[in-house]
Amino acid sequence: MIIETQDDVTQAVLQEMHRTPDARTKEVLSALVRHLHQLVKEVRLTEQEFQDAVSFINAIGQKTTPSHNEAMLIAGALGVSNLVCLINNGAKGTRPTQANNLGPFFREGAPPLENGASLLRSPTPGPRLSFKGWVRDLEGRPVEGALVDVWHSSPIGLYENQDRTQAEMNLRGKFTTDTDGSFGFQSVKPAGYPVPIDGPNGALLRAQKRHNFRPAHLHFLIHKPGYKTIASQVYDPADPHLETDSQFGVTRALIGNFVKEVGEGYRLEFTFVIEPGESRRPKAPITQKVAAV
Ligand SMILES: [Fe+2]
Repeated sequence: MIIETQDDVTQAVLQEMHRTPDARTKEVLSALVRHLHQLVKEVRLTEQEFQDAVSFINAIGQKTTPSHNEAMLIAGALGVSNLVCLINNGAKGTRPTQANNLGPFFREGAPPLENGASLLRSPTPGPRLSFKGWVRDLEGRPVEGALVDVWHSSPIGLYENQDRTQAEMNLRGKFTTDTDGSFGFQSVKPAGYPVPIDGPNGALLRAQKRHNFRPAHLHFLIHKPGYKTIASQVYDPADPHLETDSQFGVTRALIGNFVKEVGEGYRLEFTFVIEPGESRRPKAPITQKVAAV
């Protein structure tokens, strides 16, 4: 159609999309256009702001490498990651869930380990952490044979993929649950950490006077055919940023109970509930560690 005024533009775009053969693609792209056009109208986006927005989106891609995923970081900073998680888990968002954001630092290929083994592959100073977890179904029955990927930051707040001083796959491992649904490992207590701000995510946070910390947590990915694969995180309630997570991941169901043991160690136990569903594994947001220098 020939566009006469600004009010014709949305209709013109939607009309050209009407041949989209896949119904879901059509639904999503139509809604995207309607909401995007409404946003432009609501804020009366200026030409300068439009140019800045295009540069910002380009910069997200330019910042992304095999060891860093800026788009995933921005999705978290805008609360989109956790929103997607909460509407797709816990009986479609009707009850609490142990599912949580996958985050930008999951890597495939973590070494398989025996239950009770250590996640340390290079010297990693800091308080020790002894973890034991259980995987159960909706009826509370143990789920045996689930594959559980674990990964977390070091006590100085760096994942191995960000830190050349840590060995390949340090603080990462893959476990298989026993007949009672349990798995466990020895490690160090992760620290809260600042998410990267040397790219568009930093510009976003600075513009809003937001800090860039995440409260201390451990990541899990639980996978067994016949059950919906869930990513999960367990958070440290003592962390000062628990209520202001820069990635909006903390839910009530995921606050752990870190018990201080004699000496400088901690013990943490946690139960994960998984539900029947498609066991598709998420695509890993990164594929390698930062290059050695
Ligand atoms: Fe994390």
